Amino acid sequence: MSILIKNGRVVTAAEDFIADIYIEGEEIVAIGRNLDYPVDKIIDATDKLVFPGGIDPHVHLDMPFMGTYSSDDYETGTRAALHGGTTSVIEFILQTQGDTLHNALKEWQAKSLHKAVGDFSYHMAVTDFNDDVAKEVVQMIEEEGITSFKTFMAYKGALMIDDGQMVQLMKVVKEHGGLVTVHATNGDMIDSLISKNLSEGNTKPIYHYLSQPEVTEAEASARFTDMLYYTGCPGYIVHMTCEGALNAVRTATMRNQKVFVETCTQYLMLDASLYEREDGAKWVMSPPLREKKDQDALWVGINQGLIQVVGTDHCPFTLEQKASGKDNFAKIPNGHPAIEHRIEFMYSEGVRKGKISLNKFVEVTSTNAAKIFGMYPKKGTIAIGSDADLVIFDPSKQHTISADTHHMNCDYSGYEGRKVIGKTEIVLLRGKVAIEDEKCHLKAGDGKFIPRGKTSLII
Ligand code: URP
Ligand code: ZN
Ligand code: ZN
Repeated sequence: MSILIKNGRVVTAAEDFIADIYIEGEEIVAIGRNLDYPVDKIIDATDKLVFPGGIDPHVHLDMPFMGTYSSDDYETGTRAALHGGTTSVIEFILQTQGDTLHNALKEWQAKSLHKAVGDFSYHMAVTDFNDDVAKEVVQMIEEEGITSFKTFMAYKGALMIDDGQMVQLMKVVKEHGGLVTVHATNGDMIDSLISKNLSEGNTKPIYHYLSQPEVTEAEASARFTDMLYYTGCPGYIVHMTCEGALNAVRTATMRNQKVFVETCTQYLMLDASLYEREDGAKWVMSPPLREKKDQDALWVGINQGLIQVVGTDHCPFTLEQKASGKDNFAKIPNGHPAIEHRIEFMYSEGVRKGKISLNKFVEVTSTNAAKIFGMYPKKGTIAIGSDADLVIFDPSKQHTISADTHHMNCDYSGYEGRKVIGKTEIVLLRGKVAIEDEKCHLKAGDGKFIPRGKTSLII
């Protein structure tokens, strides 16, 4: 199959020019003006933006969590991602405490390899570290193409490791060229605030927010950053929400330390006032939504290069699943549906409103994740030899977000009725038309596992 995309405004993290793109098989073969090849399909991209397929490095598909499973599986989740222009995702394998990383890997392969519609890779969540797991960490990097290791400083008894385990893990990961990522909140402090609130009869969703004050995230982010400094390991903080945590990373830069940071669309766009609503459970996630001043700080952090990636932490639960916490906020499964609209939100809220440049938009939605997670330049850019993962985007089309029209397997949207300018129109995945005319043309099993290399530390 060969495709010629004509006259698009081609945008990468570094460039912005009008050109044609010629694709043969899975890869980009030529980029230039007035290309003329005999092809199977021509796409007219006049007045459209053409940018690299989005990479969302923080999604949870079919995730066992809080007594249930996130409601999108690899098929529905990666298909919804494609509809929005995200061609690759990185999901989290969860080690069961007391069990091996290899057993967890097998479990995740069974639920992803024949189901994914879009491309995917895995982070390995280490929830229980010991000498045997240390050996498995090395095997994951050298034999399985899994080079990032997720840790939790919260969710005690299920996912959390202690600081001693964290430091030991960092030493092994550093020695073998991997990266440690973290959910950085102070789990003990949060658990005690949850207990206090429940004992006082405070059961509503707002108490989820009040049990995780900013300091719980700022403290853990600083502690993680210090442990990285001590071990020399490269690190990445996921789903950062607030000014205090960002300042911890900013302080670390004064000793010439680089810590990668991800925020998510919801922390840039929504705030904690939503928890006061009757349906506040829809936005119960960890860390929680914060304040307007935190949104401002995060946008600044993106422009200062302190935040390199915008993901989603897509972890949807249906209204029925959310209702299991109707009498106790601590039982509301944490997470919300987000995988589909990240690119459109970042364009509409970021580029259209003048908060970020078009190049920065590509950097934070695709290129930096590819570099940090060892997929660049196969993924994350438009270049000769790169995978033809491309988005043809109409920058002026208006549409309205609704659960009635989204493709995520979730019966609500946290953004119902929100008007957005800019729409993903055509999506190519490795040279195949994945999305056109609002339909998905790929099927379960068309998405491929992406074995990853080492982090580019200079981005
Ligand atoms: O609320 C969230 N974030 N749910 C998914 C698990 C996590 O902490 O990322
Ligand atoms: Zn988390
Ligand atoms: Zn998450």
